[in-house]
Amino acid sequence: MKTQVAIIGSGPSGLLLGQLLNSQGIDNIILDRVSPDYILGRIRAGVIEQGFVELMKEAGVAERMLREGEIHHEVEIAVHGEYHTINLTELTGGKSVTVYGQTEITHDLMDARNASGQLSFYEAENVMPHDMKSDKPYVTFEKDGETHRIDCDYIAGCDGFHGVCRESIPKGVLTEYERVYPFGWLGLLSDTPPVNFELIYVKSDEGFALCSKRSETRSRYYVQVPLDEKVENWSDDRFWEEFKRRLPEDAADRLVTGPSIEKSIAPLRSFVVEPMQYGQMFLLGDAAHIVPPTGAKGLNLAASDVNTLYRILLKTYKEGRTDLTARYSEIALRRVWHGVRFSWWMTNMLHHFYRDSIEDKIRDSELNFFLASEHRRRILAEQYVGLPYEDIE
Ligand code: APR
Ligand code: PHB
Repeated sequence: MKTQVAIIGSGPSGLLLGQLLNSQGIDNIILDRVSPDYILGRIRAGVIEQGFVELMKEAGVAERMLREGEIHHEVEIAVHGEYHTINLTELTGGKSVTVYGQTEITHDLMDARNASGQLSFYEAENVMPHDMKSDKPYVTFEKDGETHRIDCDYIAGCDGFHGVCRESIPKGVLTEYERVYPFGWLGLLSDTPPVNFELIYVKSDEGFALCSKRSETRSRYYVQVPLDEKVENWSDDRFWEEFKRRLPEDAADRLVTGPSIEKSIAPLRSFVVEPMQYGQMFLLGDAAHIVPPTGAKGLNLAASDVNTLYRILLKTYKEGRTDLTARYSEIALRRVWHGVRFSWWMTNMLHHFYRDSIEDKIRDSELNFFLASEHRRRILAEQYVGLPYEDIE
């Protein structure tokens, strides 16, 4: 087989890149080692920056998101029971975020892919990129007992944190930067009306909690737990009790509980590799970086990588530019580091790390400082709604 761009990974990064390339007549094939149902079964993020919404529009896949997604103009930060409203729209000159689940985005992108007739292979085994340093890279994989080969111009490594693309780069080429936090988030999804229209990030004596949602009838809630906690030890009742304890009083009074649809613990980590490319292979999304969920940036950074690579490939194929592909990593990383820093900053300010430590007291002080004036809240708001994508000249 032959294509222009071989895309490894059918998460949001791979699917969105594929759809944008399709819209410009750039041929691509998507490979994933699991099935579409498995991918759609993952419960992940749900706060979408405006730049990402615009990109979905450009790809022609934003219709349902615009209809069913909720536009949010504010976000609440509650500190020891007291609310601080971050008025995103006023503070950023009109910007907002959209609350729409990653699962729904993936669904919309998969539907569009199916309608496009472009090739995709699911449950592909032993996917492997080859000759990335040459101008004739290729990808091999096995499917139903047969080995296949895809010759291509470029390989897009959209295969997540545990994927094969980053791993296939020779040792010594990449530098890894990593921070593991001493806690995780226990998340619960339930078909109960959300406790609040706006999201509430909660800092309490018992630790961090987050009130989020997927719709007017579906809630997504989290509590900070020690890193060694096991989800088996958390019955729904125990979760609700702990969650309620951390909420401001009015929210605790309003809280509607119910059976969980999903419950899991995610460790918190900041991770970046540099560079985000090796020859003709590019790394995008979780394949290149992970952020703790506190700033809601993981999925949005994946979209920003897709934007960068898409614009570069467009200029390469349509305008004959030969200089841009080598600059992908440098351009993508500038925005990635902003997102990594913001997520780290929000994580630091909102969580308890070590009880009675001077660092925790300083973190409290920093949060109070940034909530105390409009000018300071603007710094938070500008980053929460998403910094602009860089123009590619
Ligand atoms: N071969 C083929 N496919 C693979 C391989 C492999 N060796 N390893 C992983 N994959 C596939 C996975 O099955 C998955 O469907 O790559 C896909 C990666 O998808 P994601 O992990 O969702 O990563 P990405 O598309 O970059 O999405 C960005 O942002 O909010 C965060 O973590 C959240 O998933 C989200 C991410
Ligand atoms: C979520 O809805 O899952 C969510 C929202 C905001 C975050 C993290 C996760 O910061």
